[in-house]
Amino acid sequence: MAASSSLRALILVFFLLPLLAEGITRHYKFNVAEKKFTRLCSTKSIATVNGQFPGPTLYAREGDTVLVKVVNHVHYNVTIHWHGVRQLRTGWADGPAYITQCPIQPGQNYVYNFTLTGQRGTLWWHAHISWLRATVHGAIVVLPKSNVPYPFPAPHKEVVLVLAEWWKSDTEAVINEALNSGLAPNVSDAHTINGHAGPLSGCSSSARDGFTLQVDKGKRYLLRIINAALNEDLFFKVAGHQLTVVEVDAAYTKPFTTDTLLLTPGQTTNVLLTARQGAGRYIVTASPFMDSPLVAVDNRTATATVQYANSVSTSAITTTKPPPQNATPVASSFTDSLRSLNSQQYPAKVPATVDHSLLFTVGLGVNPCATCANGSRVVADINNVSFVMPTTALLQAHYFNASGVFTDDFPGQPPIAFNYTGSGPRNLQTMSGTRLYRVPYNASVQLVLQDTGIIGPENHPIHLHGYNFFVVGRGVGNYDPKSSPSNFNLVDPIERNTIGVPSGGWTAIRFRADNPGVWFLHCHFEVHTTWGLKMAFVVDDGEGPNQSLLPPPNDLPSC
Ligand code: C2O
Repeated sequence: MAASSSLRALILVFFLLPLLAEGITRHYKFNVAEKKFTRLCSTKSIATVNGQFPGPTLYAREGDTVLVKVVNHVHYNVTIHWHGVRQLRTGWADGPAYITQCPIQPGQNYVYNFTLTGQRGTLWWHAHISWLRATVHGAIVVLPKSNVPYPFPAPHKEVVLVLAEWWKSDTEAVINEALNSGLAPNVSDAHTINGHAGPLSGCSSSARDGFTLQVDKGKRYLLRIINAALNEDLFFKVAGHQLTVVEVDAAYTKPFTTDTLLLTPGQTTNVLLTARQGAGRYIVTASPFMDSPLVAVDNRTATATVQYANSVSTSAITTTKPPPQNATPVASSFTDSLRSLNSQQYPAKVPATVDHSLLFTVGLGVNPCATCANGSRVVADINNVSFVMPTTALLQAHYFNASGVFTDDFPGQPPIAFNYTGSGPRNLQTMSGTRLYRVPYNASVQLVLQDTGIIGPENHPIHLHGYNFFVVGRGVGNYDPKSSPSNFNLVDPIERNTIGVPSGGWTAIRFRADNPGVWFLHCHFEVHTTWGLKMAFVVDDGEGPNQSLLPPPNDLPSC
């Protein structure tokens, strides 16, 4: 008894007290290093942070400054991105390779230094170079300032659930092979929940491995769910339980209750789960959503277990049926239910007027390729521009006014208007270029993201760095500048940093360009980013004292 109460006191001193403080500086060290893991009955060496898969959770409070020293012990170049952290004036710490920084080379290190301003909730970090994020990723939990409660009933306990994909082979080899052949890369061999595929037929060891969430009857749990998968949208369900959504992408929502969540890669969702069942074991599922019949996905369902305290691991498990892979209505009904909380304390500051009105087509295309398997290669583009990564970082080129690295003539409208969502091939060879779109400080931007059906319609999870945006509208078919805006929600649209553009449809977002720097916009399907579905905004400094990009840190890596 005495031992356990003094242990509790120690836990309080070392773990809870620092969390009660705020506006403090938190130091983390991330060693990027190889480690062997056994999954799906086979062992392979993967790149990890601190030997963990998923990597360590970074805890902080709103207002804290976070310093993460990243040391590169692997033989790849590495960068880390703090997905959803706004990085106000600190673009140097954002992380996408060749956009805001040159990579950290093997044997080198870099300290990411940023402050969590005006944000609280679940975000995540991941490698932002090649396909390393497959295994180099983890959660960021930003707690509210001390004495500031959640705008929802306090949970008994909080649990991080990281959804991901697992390949039996090396993911760097998977994408390199695809780039050489010009064809689509192999799909993953399993989905995972907190690093485990769960009970899978044909591989008994993973049944023992599955993640288990222990619950007490009647208590309330906050699940912080992250889709860290490379290439797949995921449905999420817990058998026998309803989930109440309270936050997405570190922005509070109007609570709504559902039995199925949808998360695109890059998105996070916080839900409350009340342990309403008295006893037993209940399956948790993460399964793919893909409503384009042309696109192959890994159709395996990852599983985990919710286990009541009075049950044993051998008792029968209550199962649930994941939605069908092509369940567009389930996906749409989830997306359409999301609203910003828009309370007095957390207002939705939707730009009411628009300074820059942009229409970006997003999709795939085919370009000739003499050395490829079919004489052609799959490419991806925005407004017919397939983005070419520079060999030095864009943010440095911008800050130091270096010429010849990028141009700022990215087209704000599609170069040719056509029936975007119509099917069938077109004679539209994509251009390549390192072209950016320039925005003055504090301009309001409306960006309509229009899917194309050049190869076939497909949904695209588009992520914007440096900002949250409001999702003011969404529709099927082609966006109509005359009629579509009449249905926009400018009152309580969902605020987030990653949005799925529906298959054969469009999504309209708005944001205020109040963060100077160079900010990446890309599809969070890693394969589409690799193929060129990416661009960047360059946001100029303002005139005011706190409206300019800070100078680069001394240890910023060089290329
Ligand atoms: Cu989570 Cu640029 O990515």
